[in-house]
Amino acid sequence: MVALAVLLVASPPMATMRAASAAAAAGGCEGDKFPANQSYAHCAALPYLGARLHWTHDARTGSLSVAFVAKPAGAGGAGWVSWAINPTGDGMKGAQALVAFRPAPSAPCAVRTYNVTGYGPFTANSTAIAFKATDLAADESGGEVRLYGKLQLAPGTQVVNQVWQVGSDVTGGAPVKHAFAKENLEAKGKLQLSGAALAMAPAPAPAAANGGSSPAKGGSGGGASPSGEKPSSATSVSAPVFMLLALAAGFMAIL
Ligand SMILES: *[C@@H]1O[C@H](CO)[C@@H](O)[C@H](O)[C@H]1NC(C)=O
Repeated sequence: MVALAVLLVASPPMATMRAASAAAAAGGCEGDKFPANQSYAHCAALPYLGARLHWTHDARTGSLSVAFVAKPAGAGGAGWVSWAINPTGDGMKGAQALVAFRPAPSAPCAVRTYNVTGYGPFTANSTAIAFKATDLAADESGGEVRLYGKLQLAPGTQVVNQVWQVGSDVTGGAPVKHAFAKENLEAKGKLQLSGAALAMAPAPAPAAANGGSSPAKGGSGGGASPSGEKPSSATSVSAPVFMLLALAAGFMAIL
């Protein structure tokens, strides 16, 4: 019974791995090109909204450089794209967001930071976020927006809860709320900063980044995790999933 449960839980990451390599072969995250002298150690084709994340992480200093690529949802490239880390939950509420958009139709793409405190409208100006954010920039390529930034995480951080999103409108210089389709609501998960295979595993409980007590009871934020698992069960199976993936990788290496 336990073995069966482990196998069932293990299958989504395995499927994700196959999907990710298929996407790479078809020009997924591996096909993304950046301006000269910008490159990243890792990339992942995110499972929703056609988005990709590229990143370089220095675990010792906590420095995280990212490039997030996605297509704004509006006609003719209108709208916005966003990538965020949520240090207190796994959904939108609490997300420390980087959002790229044209503040005015003829203006170049700019990046704002938002401390997403709830589901109310966003402001035109940035609000302070929990991480020092530098090197913020954005450009457009082939109908997609590329959002760049560098975040100062706590040194030693290994896993974060990420949330990403696209919207179709910018009004008065501020991003307007996104659609609430399944894809939009499921655009979140854990990011393994080392680039390990579980980069896109469903988010279980919020990361207890500083070794504090589990904030799980207040951390449901944006609703159920993509797998629909309860946070506690997802947490308890994560070690076996790691082991299975390692075994599978070893097995494939032998073949
Ligand atoms: C973000 O908003 C929350 C809720 O209002 C607040 O507790 C927190 O201090 C804010 N973070 C920053 C960096 O201002």
